[in-house]
Amino acid sequence: MSRILVIDDELSMRELLELFFLREGHAIDVAADGSEGVRRLHEQEYDLVITDLRMPRTHGMVVLEQCRDLYPETPIIVMTAFASTETAIQAMKMGAYDYFTKPFKLDEVKAVIDKALERRQLVRENRKLRAELHGRQRFGGIIGRSQRMQDVFDLVRRVARTRTNVLILGESGTGKELIARAIHDQSDRREKPFLVINCAAIPENLLESELFGHKKGTFTGATADKEGLFKAADGGTLLLDEIGELPVGMQVKLLRVLQERKVKAVGDLREVAVDVRVVAATNRDLETDARTGSFREDLYYRLNVISIELPPLRERPTDIPLLAQHFLEKYSTEFGKAINEIDPDAMQLLLAYPFSGNVRELENVIERAVALEENDRVTERSLPDQVRRRPPPSSDAGSGLQLPDQGIDLEGVVDDVERRLIGQALDRTGGRKKEAARLLGISFRSLRYRLDKLKMKDEGDA
Ligand SMILES: Nc1ncnc2c1ncn2[C@@H]1O[C@H](COP(=O)(O)OP(=O)(O)OP(=O)(O)O)[C@@H](O)[C@H]1O
Ligand SMILES: [Mg+2]
Repeated sequence: MSRILVIDDELSMRELLELFFLREGHAIDVAADGSEGVRRLHEQEYDLVITDLRMPRTHGMVVLEQCRDLYPETPIIVMTAFASTETAIQAMKMGAYDYFTKPFKLDEVKAVIDKALERRQLVRENRKLRAELHGRQRFGGIIGRSQRMQDVFDLVRRVARTRTNVLILGESGTGKELIARAIHDQSDRREKPFLVINCAAIPENLLESELFGHKKGTFTGATADKEGLFKAADGGTLLLDEIGELPVGMQVKLLRVLQERKVKAVGDLREVAVDVRVVAATNRDLETDARTGSFREDLYYRLNVISIELPPLRERPTDIPLLAQHFLEKYSTEFGKAINEIDPDAMQLLLAYPFSGNVRELENVIERAVALEENDRVTERSLPDQVRRRPPPSSDAGSGLQLPDQGIDLEGVVDDVERRLIGQALDRTGGRKKEAARLLGISFRSLRYRLDKLKMKDEGDA
């Protein structure tokens, strides 16, 4: 069964195709004009899109363009009401898979559609194979087992296949730059440059030449032609960091570049085409800035075709042990020390600490601990005062649990509790599952189910 979207302003046509596809066993959505069609495309991915060209409000060509940008692998078939093959050919040039001229015979249509769906299936299977081959390691150093980070990784995987602009939102230190790099590394642009510019760090008068380049002699100090970042990132990805700080004058110029996909160096008359995927990042609430007018709304919408929100670390405490361990390994290698673990009391303190500086702060805490620690494990003593000051939460199961103000990742926390208690029960019983199950007050089958669900290593007997 495939998911198909039919967009046509003509009711009879929608009904005809809907009935036809239902009979063929597909799931089908219909949209009565181009705008509705575009909205649906933003809501979900389809295996096939069939759109009329001449429609009120939003033309089929716009639907085509948006769909192609969002889902490059989804075949699009266009319909024209009259024998205007010229527009149909234009649509093919813009990436349509095929076209029909109305009126058409359903069995002719069926052949084309089956072929389109078949190809789509092939592409998908190939991608799955590749993904399995590369596995999670392709996420490089990005750690996160909380559901919220897993969702972020999923989104990164999907978004990497497209060339749409992406806006990454999140507090300072949540890993925005890392995610931007992952999008690049997972895309077919990975062999081309990934460049970063911090919009807040460059004086306004230099920003334009930094981004778009300049001609020799345009201003004092311009002693040679300079290539801008857009040109340098051609074929690759450009991260515009701290986009919220971009001066208003530059916002207009950037918008133009995003629309035209062409840049003009300062002092140059010619425009040069560039193919750059733009990822923007900010720790500001850009939507509010756009609403209140401190950031151009049109630019906001251009940048925010897809947004990825990175949750603060305090909202995904299940990631803390994993990240802490990751940084521990990193810094004990770097400092040539043999510190391999974190003392449980120290871990309790880390879990209770709100980390307003997010992952970056955790990294600093661990780096400091590794540098100072004289034992073979990280203990309370090597944690900074602000972390030690927090009382460790009660570890009594069930009692004394406190829901933090900012909320938690319930499923992750529950998994974590389960994992720890099951681990303890197995340790105590020397891995004998029947006894462990009795200690936990659950059946043997239920224990087996949980071990499987939590992907805990299943070693030993029955
Ligand atoms: N999930 C993660 N796994 C491993 N390391 C991470 C993760 N998230 C962040 N880091 C590390 O934390 C540090 C901060 O990350 P990054 O620079 O990407 O944050 P940011 O959101 O861009 O911060 P800022 O808003 O301050 O620029 C980096 O050293 C990065 O490698
Ligand atoms: Mg950053």
